[in-house]
Amino acid sequence: MANYLILFYTKSGNTKKMANAIYEGIKNTELGASDFNLDLYNISDNNIVMHELENYDCIIVGAPIHYGKLASPMNDFLESSFENNISLEDKIGGCFTSYGVDIQGAELAILSLVQFFLEQGMIVPGINKEEAFGQIIAGTPDDEILSKCREYGQKIAHLTKSICT
Ligand SMILES: Cc1cc2nc3c(=O)[nH]c(=O)nc-3n(C[C@H](O)[C@H](O)[C@H](O)COP(=O)(O)O)c2cc1C
Repeated sequence: MANYLILFYTKSGNTKKMANAIYEGIKNTELGASDFNLDLYNISDNNIVMHELENYDCIIVGAPIHYGKLASPMNDFLESSFENNISLEDKIGGCFTSYGVDIQGAELAILSLVQFFLEQGMIVPGINKEEAFGQIIAGTPDDEILSKCREYGQKIAHLTKSICT
């Protein structure tokens, strides 16, 4: 059974739309599977307990760019995994981010997520040669972008299935 978590922070809803599309991508990929679990959590809702992260095979994290870097609520949440002795070794990590008008810092934000995954001993796939830094989207995602997010969810789901089953 593959166990997926999409974890996001949003202030004005753009990252949430991306998270929902990735959710749809995974769900559509796994529809034929007899047994899988897929959860979507907004860290602002305070309904995710840090220790629950250890239950997932795949954790996909998204947050907007704030002041040229990953929004601090998500950064702080992830950092606290170390203080809480959470081990995410051998899990698959995915990441996405949303920025406004100034892309500066977006790749840095993605790389800070990749760094977190590597520090946790996780496995991180690229998307493709053209979008090596993951899903980085400006402002409100349109249909084309949402479709790309769904494809990203599918790609990660395929990888997770191949590793976890
Ligand atoms: C406090 C704050 C700081 C921001 N700093 C940046 C920034 O440095 N560069 C940028 O391109 N966008 C910046 N933005 C814009 C957001 O990244 C952008 O609107 C994003 O799509 C918001 O995602 P959300 O709707 O999920 O919150 C900032 C927004 C806020 C609220």
